[in-house]
Amino acid sequence: MAWTASDIPDQSGRLALVTGASSGLGLETARALASHGATVVLGCRSRARAEAARQELLPTAHGPIDLLDLDLADLESVHRAAAEMAERYGRLDLLINNAGVMAPPRRLTRQGFELQFGTNHLGHFALTSALLPLLRRRPGARVVTVTSGAQYFGRLDFDDLQGERGYDRWKAYAQSKLANVAFALELQQRLNAESVAGEPGESGWILSLAAHPGLARTNLQPDSVAASGARFEALAYRLMDPLFQSAAMGALPQLFAATAPEAEPGGHYGPNQWGGMRGWPTAVRIAPAALDPGQRQRLWQVSEELVAQTLPTRHCP
Ligand SMILES: NC(=O)c1ccc[n+]([C@@H]2O[C@H](COP(=O)([O-])OP(=O)(O)OC[C@H]3O[C@@H](n4cnc5c(N)ncnc54)[C@H](OP(=O)(O)O)[C@@H]3O)[C@@H](O)[C@H]2O)c1
Repeated sequence: MAWTASDIPDQSGRLALVTGASSGLGLETARALASHGATVVLGCRSRARAEAARQELLPTAHGPIDLLDLDLADLESVHRAAAEMAERYGRLDLLINNAGVMAPPRRLTRQGFELQFGTNHLGHFALTSALLPLLRRRPGARVVTVTSGAQYFGRLDFDDLQGERGYDRWKAYAQSKLANVAFALELQQRLNAESVAGEPGESGWILSLAAHPGLARTNLQPDSVAASGARFEALAYRLMDPLFQSAAMGALPQLFAATAPEAEPGGHYGPNQWGGMRGWPTAVRIAPAALDPGQRQRLWQVSEELVAQTLPTRHCP
């Protein structure tokens, strides 16, 4: 039977941070969690867009909606946001690593990383690492990282992760989305290793999962076209429009990963129809490169080094 937002269990008492909650899938994820009673923190780079999202969500929310300034393209902002979460709440039940940018011309983050690798992967890697102490305080906490069908075309180019020697904006997007799923799986592996060493909390350990939306009508495509000026792509999106589903449908796999009791640790969920382009959440295949422990561990190590290079390691109290 199709899993829909009405299957989300009661979220009262749970605290969720959704990155990129100002539009698209993040906004719909925040809406569904808040309407099921969660306290939802909208992690956004624009205070004005975050406030507009809060006003839109309030009428159907059954829990508070808070705002958090968070620019994933600036690791200082990421660390400030994690410190703010620690100070304000001291705990976290759900982290939805959702924010993303797609296929812009080559641009850099504040610390000089290629924008897509920096925002989609490194920013979330740093955020999750800094928030783990807060997640550890909550039994059954979950981290959901949003990837894309682009992972299947991706390659982790360890010789040129930042596209310095050659930049192809679609290859860079696919690499960042492959990094998202590889990170989610590697995090689960590391959490499993911890669980062998210790005692589980009341309701178990932190789970790490990944999800992709298929094709969903959001700001991702128009923003990508506006940044690149690729008029051919604008035409392609218009022709493909019937294939695209609503943002609310696209958000279901990440909501399933975040809340369904039957979601598996290290699970990867996406739509069940049209080769994963649309439909209801189901377990979907993972790109082979993300299943390779060598690639995942290397990505983790490089990511740790890149984050450490730019900022001293700081942990939440
Ligand atoms: N839509 C699809 O068909 C599709 C397909 C596959 C995967 N995805 C993935 O789904 C996720 C959500 O995308 P969407 O489709 O919902 O697109 P969207 O409507 O463009 O939303 C993207 C969100 O990310 C935020 N964001 C971008 N850069 C950021 C930064 N530096 N710091 C903080 N937030 C930032 C945006 O904030 P602003 O409002 O400030 O721009 C916005 O809230 C992405 O990870 C994307 O790769 C989407």
